Amino acid sequence: MTPADSATLIADAAAAEQLPLSKQLKAGTRRNHDTVDTLVMQARPFESLVRYGCFLHVQHRFHGAINTLYDDITLNRLLPGLSELPRFEAVCADITDLGLPLPPTPPAVATTSTHAALGWLYCSEGSNLGAAFLFKETQQIGLNGENGARHLAAHPDGRGLHWRQFVALLDGLELCESKRDEAVSGAVAAFDFYRAALRELFPTI
Ligand code: HEM
Repeated sequence: MTPADSATLIADAAAAEQLPLSKQLKAGTRRNHDTVDTLVMQARPFESLVRYGCFLHVQHRFHGAINTLYDDITLNRLLPGLSELPRFEAVCADITDLGLPLPPTPPAVATTSTHAALGWLYCSEGSNLGAAFLFKETQQIGLNGENGARHLAAHPDGRGLHWRQFVALLDGLELCESKRDEAVSGAVAAFDFYRAALRELFPTI
């Protein structure tokens, strides 16, 4: 075998080992997801409207900070249709439904790069999946998709469709290893941000 042949074999093996980006993001943030999931449950956000109001404040902090990413031209070029997906307005409508004042719009997150921003968006869009469970819980406190729990309701096209489309777009991007790592770091930063907001706005957890 010539050196060129072995170089090709090594490159093929590396490509075969490479996970689709969505799977790499999932694997790289599993622990982060699970700690955030546990903290949300410890916060008991569906025990009362008062606690749910605090949860909405966390959602407002998170979705408000990433809202401008959804309109970013470069990100929309990478992920066509992105601008149709943000949930910040729905979070604001939920807060208003509860008769609570809207907090000031949070400052936009300073993502370190376009690829890091992909990781933040992965975190936000993936949270729609767990939202199915959270949405059911809101019914215990008398809320629904038209009142107070709009941002957790399924999209009229179904909860899975937009996620599958988003994943297909992510997985179709041809990114080198360092850009994929930036995306994973961005997703980790997004979970860290969410965790910090939870701890600040639910001081007892
Ligand atoms: C009590 C709170 C939560 C529960 C019970 C929960 C539950 C779940 C479940 C069951 C899934 C997998 C759904 C499926 O594969 O069909 C999921 C996925 C996901 N959740 Fe959560 N979640 C919670 C909170 C969050 C939060 C606050 C975030 C983000 C800030 C988040 C981000 C994600 C992401 C990114 C995925 C996609 C994982 C993948 O790549 O497949 N989750 N969640």
